[in-house]
Amino acid sequence: MHDSTKGNDRRHFLASAAGLVLLASASAVTIFRFIFGKPRVDGQLQAERLRLLSQNTELGKLELQRQTQDEILIGRLSDLDAAKGKYFTDYQMQQALAFIDKDNLPILLSAKCTHLGCTVGSQVDDQGRVLCPCHISYFDIVTGQPSQGSPAKKPLPHLSWIVRDQNGDVVAKKIGAGQVEGLRDLSNSDNFSVFLLRDTKEG
Ligand code: FES
Repeated sequence: MHDSTKGNDRRHFLASAAGLVLLASASAVTIFRFIFGKPRVDGQLQAERLRLLSQNTELGKLELQRQTQDEILIGRLSDLDAAKGKYFTDYQMQQALAFIDKDNLPILLSAKCTHLGCTVGSQVDDQGRVLCPCHISYFDIVTGQPSQGSPAKKPLPHLSWIVRDQNGDVVAKKIGAGQVEGLRDLSNSDNFSVFLLRDTKEG
């Protein structure tokens, strides 16, 4: 066999061997990724995974609290506002709103629009109403009733609340849309705390 033919054969052999090595290593990477997943996770994706994880953990905590506790702290009475509601999560794991009325008593309302379930806004207009922006329903925050002409026809339900002083003693309480029991004016103290009270009818 000529030298040049031998050289060609050697080159072909080396090229084939190199091809096989490349193929083998590509397969190894594919198999590794199949078994262990993509080794280098994109930073943004990682951050999003962590965010979802902590969101789920937070939701789990809220849910557990609502399953096991008959009262949920909303905040200090003095932190509630008449013109801007404070959102919180009710016992149905739905959004709700807390305001203060003219006698310094809390108003707790479901924020789930009774039309198709959007969350109503927290800003109170000059007629004492909040707006559901989805199909424009206005609700009076004192009565919960929708304004005439709103697509929503049912009121936002009132939620039960209890107010405790710094010693944990009950100073006022209201079940749903019922009457206030206890003090009728809570304007004298910064140290009152407002709790959402489990409605025994809702469980
Ligand atoms: S969902 Fe609120 S107006 Fe339609």
